[in-house]
Amino acid sequence: MLISKQLRQKYLDFFVSKGHKVILSASLVPENDPTVLFTTAGMHPLVPYLLGEKHPEGKRLASAQKCARLQDIDEVGDNRHDTFFEMLGNWSLGDYFKKEAIQWSWEFLTDQKWLGLDPKKLAVSVFKGGKTAERDEESAEIWKEAGVPEHKICFLPKENNWWGPAGATGPCGPDTEMFYWMGESELPPKKSNPENDEDNWLEIWNDVFMEYNKLVDGSYAPLKQKNVDTGMGLERTLVALNGFADVFQVDTFWPLIQKIEEISGREYVENAEVTKSMRVIADHLRTATMIMGDDKGIAPSNVDQGYVVRRLIRRAVRHGRLLGIKENFSSAMAEETIKIFSDVYPEVERNREFVINEMAKEESKFRNTIERGMAKFEELLDSPVLSRGNDNVTDGGKIISAKDAFDLYQSYGFPIELTIELAEEKGLSVDIKGFNEEMKKHQELSRAGAEQKFKGGLADTGEMSIKYHTATHLLHAALRKVLGEHVTQRGSNITAERLRFDFSHPEKLTENQKAQIEELVNYAIKRDYTVVFEEMSVEQAKKLGAIGLFEARYGQKVKVYSVGDSQAKVEAHENSQCFSREICGGPHVEHTGVLGKFRIIKEEAVSAGVRRIKAILE
Ligand code: ALA
Repeated sequence: MLISKQLRQKYLDFFVSKGHKVILSASLVPENDPTVLFTTAGMHPLVPYLLGEKHPEGKRLASAQKCARLQDIDEVGDNRHDTFFEMLGNWSLGDYFKKEAIQWSWEFLTDQKWLGLDPKKLAVSVFKGGKTAERDEESAEIWKEAGVPEHKICFLPKENNWWGPAGATGPCGPDTEMFYWMGESELPPKKSNPENDEDNWLEIWNDVFMEYNKLVDGSYAPLKQKNVDTGMGLERTLVALNGFADVFQVDTFWPLIQKIEEISGREYVENAEVTKSMRVIADHLRTATMIMGDDKGIAPSNVDQGYVVRRLIRRAVRHGRLLGIKENFSSAMAEETIKIFSDVYPEVERNREFVINEMAKEESKFRNTIERGMAKFEELLDSPVLSRGNDNVTDGGKIISAKDAFDLYQSYGFPIELTIELAEEKGLSVDIKGFNEEMKKHQELSRAGAEQKFKGGLADTGEMSIKYHTATHLLHAALRKVLGEHVTQRGSNITAERLRFDFSHPEKLTENQKAQIEELVNYAIKRDYTVVFEEMSVEQAKKLGAIGLFEARYGQKVKVYSVGDSQAKVEAHENSQCFSREICGGPHVEHTGVLGKFRIIKEEAVSAGVRRIKAILE
């Protein structure tokens, strides 16, 4: 049996042996990228370097990255989908390309010294060709040379074999994917491959050849450099290595399933429904714990990441209810999750108290909601307005109308599944079709809002966002000067219209404090300070008093941006006082004078101990 800790280590050791430097997992909540809520892949934090910026650790990198993908949330419950997962990745930033990437993937998967998977149980797919790039015969050739028989190589279109960008724009390209046999028979039949027998093949690894940049207008331009971006799913690969039937048997999941068995007194294998509910609970509360435990102070709320956390917890509680769990149980699940991950991602241990408290609060709140909703539901049952069947529900019996179901959802936080379940208990139907129509109307409204929000937010390279990025550093420094050194960054989000900065501070800012902060930032702009960066080890950076997120391994090289007078670069060595000195990937403006006038437009609470400032440059 190979466990998660061993697989992470083997992977990183292998790529170190091929000249790679190991970098630490970045936060699950991306910095300065307003187009996505979560880090969805190992390449996400590396976007500037894939676009051509120099990475301080060089051209070959590897990592184990925490990722969250919510688009498949409804699939959770089957044998392979999860919303939080770990991605093992290796990168070439304009260095090696297809040949080495594929050969190393094959070596790592099949060599007895590494994973030693049976080559007969592996198959691959490559890009079939399309408008942007041609058929990838080159990769197919390299696979053949490595020893993959022709009938186990399939050519698939863009929907399958193209990856990226992670947000709306950015690096992307054709990919080649590796699959492991999950079928009943010991070995796959000769004709079976991931194209014609999808369910029996599990994708475990993806090598992306990133040579394109998707632009705002939807077109593709060649990147400055040809990159490789790979992602191996840790959980899925452990399934392949251990012959498990599903990802929940992996050691970063199984203790959670056992905990649910203990709390509910039910068995994982009791029946398909119980299995599904246990998987949903384990998955959702694991993900919620990892998001809240990520140093950004994300708590359940009605917006952005907080909304996702709320939805995850509520769905889990609903499934807990299906298993007959009557007491609060989500904190116990969070405890278990923290136990699983605290040695790999120490931040979850650091944020233990916050996670446990928020989890318990949200569960209690939701249970109260259910209570209130239940009262409303009972009222509906007695009420004469309970509709007779309509065009959507033709069984002729009494139904819960679309309007009532939607009201239960919107005003009482009742997920439709809960309404259906309760209705079924009373022998009633629900106008689901009508409810979905109501939902669609509602979503169209909020999508219009979301598009508004993203407009002009393709900020990563825009001139305005670079200015906001530098302004964020000035603000961070000013906050520490005015409020004290306890202020640390909890999150940052920049669009072309404004900056948003979350930081730790226990109370509301006074008018006077806000005025002082504005004044200090504007002072730094007026002085037209020079902005310079240098590369150094993370220890040296800390010694020089650099602030910022220390997501770096011991000895790793980082970029340090200093803002001060024109001597800032020299001073960086001499440990003198700069206005701001921060670990950061950049980019920034060269002189602060170009920023204009800085103004705070809002200051508010995000969660206990975390404040948020929104500010603009005029
Ligand atoms: N970025 C690629 C993926 O997520 C490797 O599959």
